[in-house]
Amino acid sequence: MPSTLIAGIGSLVTNDPAQGTGPLGLLTDAAVVVDGGTIAWVGPAAEAPAADERFDAAGRTLLPGFVDSHAHLVFAGDRTAEFNARMSGQSYTAGGIRTTVAATRAASDAELDANLARFVREALRQGTTSIECKSGYGLTVPDEARALRIASSYTPETTYLGAHVVAPEYAQDPAGYVDLVTGEMLDACAPYARWVDVFCEDGAFDGDQARAILTAGVERGLTPRVHANQLSYGPGVQLAVELGAASADHCTHLTDEDVAALAGSATVATLLPGAEFSTRAAYPDARRLLDAGAVVALSTDCNPGSSFTSSMAFCIAVAVREMGMTPDEAVWAATAGGAHALRRTDVGTVAVGARADLQLLEAPSHVHLAYRPGVPLTAAVWRAGVREV
Ligand code: NIG
Ligand code: FE
Repeated sequence: MPSTLIAGIGSLVTNDPAQGTGPLGLLTDAAVVVDGGTIAWVGPAAEAPAADERFDAAGRTLLPGFVDSHAHLVFAGDRTAEFNARMSGQSYTAGGIRTTVAATRAASDAELDANLARFVREALRQGTTSIECKSGYGLTVPDEARALRIASSYTPETTYLGAHVVAPEYAQDPAGYVDLVTGEMLDACAPYARWVDVFCEDGAFDGDQARAILTAGVERGLTPRVHANQLSYGPGVQLAVELGAASADHCTHLTDEDVAALAGSATVATLLPGAEFSTRAAYPDARRLLDAGAVVALSTDCNPGSSFTSSMAFCIAVAVREMGMTPDEAVWAATAGGAHALRRTDVGTVAVGARADLQLLEAPSHVHLAYRPGVPLTAAVWRAGVREV
């Protein structure tokens, strides 16, 4: 693959404070050289070395591709009617998950694969170069395993979420379902998964069940992440921290103890504003978490029920307007923050040796991601050095 000099970068977000100003490591009048899928050189435009090819950024903004660390993309069907009902006043209960489970079970492998391919492409067109993908709409051994098998051909960030809700067949026997999730289903899914996740919430899995499921996953070599404190206060965040989870996701209802636990740990607080937007719920308080010293990531939670958006830019805009984040904090959270939540050091920064996952914005500054909500600013995207958009 020929090397490429990306020249004429008006503003460059590196997320490497050693390379530029502030936590975003900002450089102006910069250049980047991409070689063999990784970043080979970063610095002032005037000092840029030669490369085989040249791309002129024409004064626009270059930043790392978005790292979307929380998405549910292996499914069939859609829940327009449920959304419509909510926008007419009904509240979100997560009960609609079963609608998607029925449609997903009925779909062919080819249909699920095509749906996933479409969403990954849709996200890529909007600057997302890394995306996590959960199972959780199958809830049988073969349906969960095929979801992860299909996901694993699109992303290494695959998450076993057999514990999304209790499968309908086990409605009268939740303990039996936990046995299945920690036994035969885990055996079938572990070969295709990097992570194990649980929806720890009233109506899904309680703290003891969640602990059993996450611990079983850890014993099979998976690393935990938790749907925690989304719809109500609960044990999810404390459990995530106690088990050394990479991330506690949602974090909408937090006590002072929950905030302190996150701030004193390596567990990232992943906030998912699309879910509150689409369920007309109160947003999580990012400012409180940041002021306490917690690491915050932003992600889409893209799923057909609670948050049917694949737009990280939308999440940035909402986080800035509604959750007390500065534009700099939100852009960091959507790139480097997501990388932290996935324990990845090769993405989320523009630094020598990092994967060349980059997006060019039709804008003079990354602040435009919040300042120009809803405007498609993506001008070009490279994934592992390959121009995709
Ligand atoms: O993260 N909270 C649980 N899971 C999803 C919602 C899934 C659905 O409603 O289909 C979420 O919001
Ligand atoms: Fe989710």
